[in-house]
Amino acid sequence: MINKTIEIAKQAGAIIREGFGKKLSIDFKTDEANLVTNIDKASEKLIMDFIRKEYPTHSIIAEESGSSKNSSEYTWVIDPLDGTTNFAHGFPIFSVSIGLQKNGETIIGVIYDVMRDVIYSAEKGSGTYENGKKIFVNSNSILSQSLLVTGFAYNREDEYREAIKKFGNMLTASRGVRRLGSAAIDFCYVANGVFEGFWEAKLAPWDVCAGLLIVEEAGGKTSDFNGNKVKIDSDSFLATNGKVHSKMLEVLRKKA
Ligand code: IPD
Ligand code: CA
Ligand code: CA
Repeated sequence: MINKTIEIAKQAGAIIREGFGKKLSIDFKTDEANLVTNIDKASEKLIMDFIRKEYPTHSIIAEESGSSKNSSEYTWVIDPLDGTTNFAHGFPIFSVSIGLQKNGETIIGVIYDVMRDVIYSAEKGSGTYENGKKIFVNSNSILSQSLLVTGFAYNREDEYREAIKKFGNMLTASRGVRRLGSAAIDFCYVANGVFEGFWEAKLAPWDVCAGLLIVEEAGGKTSDFNGNKVKIDSDSFLATNGKVHSKMLEVLRKKA
């Protein structure tokens, strides 16, 4: 199953690469900051067609087409293009993210970093791989010597003050904070030891399903901003190397 998932993520990535830099058809979802392109839709169609053909009984949660639930114990959770704003503006950081859950537990996570042609893959209990090579989170426990990454929700009106406060607190507590624009890739760079931690509130199930497993299987730790166990529909997400987890939780909880 994982090999088929990797193959379809790569095929979806090829559609995205082909569309990069070309004229796009763009629609606004909630407002002018929240885009969907013809390429998001083409990538999702390819992945959905694959699942419907190979696993017709399975349920699907997909960003652009919603949920199709049935009685199967398996659910696919799909972000056909994570980083649409980057893609639409010609900034080459975006990915395809595919997770598979069995009875509510993620058992497969695959993320394809499209422009770098790198596959991150994890199976529950079997570790995380970057283009076939096993990867691990790093072992730095000093937050002031850590490079962190975050993102901001599209619904900026309600959320941004709180997000900026947390951003400022993390900036002063760490060596630096990056904002890449693809949550799925943020998780992968925690898994391979580039970043010590990633935090973001208000992510959707398709942003996090594969990425959470990819960090956990690389030896990292995940929780919400209160330190509770996360599910794909949680309200906030923290994913770290484990060593800076409690220190990042302290910073996230700071009042000012
Ligand atoms: C977005 C990206 C971004 C994150 C947003 C997501 P999309 O996903 O992952 O990094 O900050 O919260 O919605 O819309 O490009 O698939
Ligand atoms: Ca996304
Ligand atoms: Ca998307």
